[in-house]
Amino acid sequence: MPNILAIDDKPDNLITLSAILKNFLPGSHVTTAISGPAGIEKARNEIPDVVLLDIRMPGMDGYEVCKRLKQDEHTRHIPIIMISAILTGSEDIIKGLDSGADAYLPKPVEEHVLVAQVRTALRMKNAEDNLRRQKNLLERLVRERTVELEKTVLQLQVEIAERKRAEDVLSVKQQELESLNHFLEDRIHKAVNEIRQKDQALIQQSRMAAMGEMIGNIAHQWRQPLNALGLIVANIEDAFEFNELTAEYLKKASADCQRLIQKMSSTISDFFHFFRSDRTSSVFSARRQIHEALSLVEASFNNSNITIHCDTEHDVMLQGFPNEFSQVLLNLLSNAKEAIAAHRNTDGRVDIRIETRGDQGCILVEDNGPGIPPDVLDKIFDPYFSTKEQGTGIGLYMSKMIIERHMNGNIMAHNTDSGAIFTVCAPSGDFKPKTPHTI
Ligand SMILES: Nc1ncnc2c1ncn2[C@@H]1O[C@H](COP(=O)(O)OP(=O)(O)O)[C@@H](O)[C@H]1O
Ligand SMILES: [Mg+2]
Repeated sequence: MPNILAIDDKPDNLITLSAILKNFLPGSHVTTAISGPAGIEKARNEIPDVVLLDIRMPGMDGYEVCKRLKQDEHTRHIPIIMISAILTGSEDIIKGLDSGADAYLPKPVEEHVLVAQVRTALRMKNAEDNLRRQKNLLERLVRERTVELEKTVLQLQVEIAERKRAEDVLSVKQQELESLNHFLEDRIHKAVNEIRQKDQALIQQSRMAAMGEMIGNIAHQWRQPLNALGLIVANIEDAFEFNELTAEYLKKASADCQRLIQKMSSTISDFFHFFRSDRTSSVFSARRQIHEALSLVEASFNNSNITIHCDTEHDVMLQGFPNEFSQVLLNLLSNAKEAIAAHRNTDGRVDIRIETRGDQGCILVEDNGPGIPPDVLDKIFDPYFSTKEQGTGIGLYMSKMIIERHMNGNIMAHNTDSGAIFTVCAPSGDFKPKTPHTI
């Protein structure tokens, strides 16, 4: 239902206009204003769809009213149809259109022309309203989208800032990690060096200990021939005193001395042979190495009243380094001897057995000493661990290294009812260590 505002200073004109419009545009609503300012006021309040505006009015004329309505934000979109005075020149028409009017009707106004103009103006207004609505809608959409975008941008900025912070933290952490790595590498390097040095020292000590034991054993082996030599020399003296020193006597005594000296000398070469490092891995008889080791310590065991029982009827072949293996046996034997010596004076006994267990050959060395104190049982293979006043604590450690690292075997210690038993097992098959070595 169109809403039309008619502004004219003459009430008659207003009545005529209202009548025409109501007649030809049924349903339209017509309001009127009797002066320019009153018209502007009404236009502002009611926002009509069309304004019919008389030009000649006292006070504020139609041009001015038109100008003001077109300047006002609220009313500028309302189409204005100007109605002129009776004799109008083209100048007036131009002036009217310049002041913002949308159409210009000269008086006397013809009903049909007026109605057609109003209809056109209404269509225009309608189209403009639609356009404005679309524009508003678009603007709203753009505004909403802009707000959304701004939010997203803000969020992104926050995220970027957070990521940057996280990256900073990460890079600090990475730096810390790198320096920690350097520090650790340094520590490891130092630790490895220390261990290497300690190992060197250990090997050196183990050699010294082995030498010490060797000299001890030589001393025992020599005791008997030395005594015999002493006796022969004393006998020669006696024979000389009693005039019994014949050439024959001297010859026999000299031969006996030679034999004894020969025995002593071979003892030394036996030991040297025994302590020579193996150059290569080979398959060897466990029984042979056991008997070689026993021949070296026999005398010192006899001296300590310890009997050795050796059940080596059954033999096993082992792969590895025979001299190193015998050193292990010597370590076990001398530990057994020391344990027994500290424990009892008589019936010391060491039993040696050879067994085959699966694809392994095992040598068991059992003594009837005091056994290993249970609280140190898991420490005896540690380097430098010893319960003895003069102990070096490297015998079992080196033995373990030889058996486990060089021969791919294992060495274990247990207590029995009457002492300790050490079991050394190594593959009797094809195991071949990669490099020859010495310890
Ligand atoms: N047959 C044994 N009986 C009792 N204890 C033993 C025996 N063999 C080794 N041990 C214990 O193991 C320790 C370590 O032995 P070892 O490494 O040879 O060093 P060390 O003989 O210099 O003490 C010994 O001090 C001892 O306590
Ligand atoms: Mg020892």
